[in-house]
Amino acid sequence: MAATRTFSIIKPDATERNLTGAVNKVIEEGGLRIVGQRRIHMTREQAEQFYGVHKERPFFGELVEFMTSAPVVVQVLEGDNAVPRYREIMGATNPAEADDGTIRKLFAKSIGENSVHGSDSDENAAIEIAQFFTEADIVG
Ligand code: CMP
Repeated sequence: MAATRTFSIIKPDATERNLTGAVNKVIEEGGLRIVGQRRIHMTREQAEQFYGVHKERPFFGELVEFMTSAPVVVQVLEGDNAVPRYREIMGATNPAEADDGTIRKLFAKSIGENSVHGSDSDENAAIEIAQFFTEADIVG
């Protein structure tokens, strides 16, 4: 199986509770390698661009507010089938529906404050990675 990449964000609800290391432990034990990582405070422009696909959703304003409310950790993860593998490791968007042992079951507070983001396709992973990383920032 070929190693591929996905994009991850450790969200404000997790960084505020000092859970970066705990989330990274679940990622690494799940078989993915963190090949790029940076802690940033997202600007409104960055959050609006990143979540542009959700612009018409009723929760868009709340989502942008939340993502800019405290630092986040943006990451590039690498491994076999990284996109679907990370979605398994994260668990369902709504933590009430997430499987035991997943990041969202362990740490998420609600459907909005759900601790992590992960890309939903290889195509979107490439777009999302390019928004925050250059190739020089990614060391496999
Ligand atoms: P994420 O994977 O980052 O992609 C879009 C985000 O929108 C999602 O995770 C949730 O955090 C958020 N989201 C989805 N549905 C809702 C909702 N009903 N209310 C608030 N936020 C939501």
